[in-house]
Amino acid sequence: MSEHDARASASKHATLLIVGASYAGAQLAGSAREAGFGGRIVLCGDEPHLPYQRPHLSKGYLSGALDATRLPLRSAEYYRERDIELQLGARIDAIDPARRQVHRGAVTLDYDWLVLATGARARPLNVPGVGLQGVLTLRSLDDAERLRVLAPAARKVCVVGGGFIGLEVAAVLATAGAEVCVLETGERLLMRSLPAPLAGYLAATHAARGVTLHYGQALRALHGDNNGRVCGAELADGTLLPCDLVVTGIGVQANVELATAAGIACDDGIVVDAGMATSAPQVLAIGDCARQPHPWTPDPGDLRGLRLESIQAANEMARAAAATIMGRPAPPPGVPWFWSDQYDLKLQMAGLGAATDTLVTRGDLHSGKFTVWGLRGGRVAAAYSINRPGEHLLSRKLIAARCAVPPALLADPQVDLGAWLQSASKGA
Ligand code: APR
Repeated sequence: MSEHDARASASKHATLLIVGASYAGAQLAGSAREAGFGGRIVLCGDEPHLPYQRPHLSKGYLSGALDATRLPLRSAEYYRERDIELQLGARIDAIDPARRQVHRGAVTLDYDWLVLATGARARPLNVPGVGLQGVLTLRSLDDAERLRVLAPAARKVCVVGGGFIGLEVAAVLATAGAEVCVLETGERLLMRSLPAPLAGYLAATHAARGVTLHYGQALRALHGDNNGRVCGAELADGTLLPCDLVVTGIGVQANVELATAAGIACDDGIVVDAGMATSAPQVLAIGDCARQPHPWTPDPGDLRGLRLESIQAANEMARAAAATIMGRPAPPPGVPWFWSDQYDLKLQMAGLGAATDTLVTRGDLHSGKFTVWGLRGGRVAAAYSINRPGEHLLSRKLIAARCAVPPALLADPQVDLGAWLQSASKGA
């Protein structure tokens, strides 16, 4: 019997129960089968939809370029063919690691392996008037559908939060002809994710499309008309911005409540080890809800690990969990990468930019095609490419190589960095 068959046979009578049916959960179900898990796989999610592609919601799905049939991550047949039991619209109320059971209403499910892939939810805005009609957020497909209904009639849109969600929504709605303003409490856009020159570039791009940007002020209240519809946003200094639609994108918070109630260790995310194991036996956690030890953490002295909100991280963690379940060593995480589309700009980011000490640009910002590298101690730690997919892919390799790259080489468009990296790797 091959090792694969032996492991499949050993797992034949086991139940793998996955709570959360988005990227991480769906990937784990498939990866576990692929790795030879031979038992029952149950994928439970509280949303009624087949697991779907979330990034489209604030881009092509909102603009109308993409319809709902294009959203599912996998077809229903994919799950059927792999004997993955989908329980959709099924919210798990509690988990009981001591008994290896979970509870959904009056139903109790037994498991051998439990994987929490509960994701994150939009952080709620806490101001008077937030319950008015026309005040929406964007995280789920249901959120996106509500927004798609109201957006076409909206003339003045107030976007709260200058992060990726807010800016992608602003780009789509401004392109559709709405008058859009963005309210950001920080002193600039994308403070969490981008260095200042890139944020400035994006701010200028939005301004050129007619989007008004307000920085450094909290929203004091939202005001409604006699019909209970939002009609204005009041800033801390008293400025009143008329609007008929408000969309909030002020970050997310990890869904850790099931874990916390079961006594599982959490720290802005469910704490896991390199194999995705939580503090409870036979319970793993993956995806946006999990905080993992990470080789690309900006500060190696920081032992808290990282809670990454990305599809790449969800997929990698799912594969690591599948390995753990099958008794194999978990593959380590790769260099983190992310992307955002706004207007005709494709922004691709690699690495984590915190604590970089030098920025180097290749290409001309005015051309709309360039890469900014962030160096930490001479090594490339992060890269931000606008409409430069080749340089983005190469940047991931440069970061992974952890080698020092002379800034002059990075900046010189004549230098073939791929060839340079090859010869540097040979010489190492
Ligand atoms: N008013 C205005 N702005 C606020 C407020 C507030 N009350 N609170 C927070 N902000 C700003 C933050 O300063 C930040 O710039 O909102 C922005 C939120 O940005 P992110 O934290 O990046 O979150 P968001 O854009 O909502 O994206 C949520 O989806 O696309 C993914 O990568 C993204 O994982 C992230 C998630």
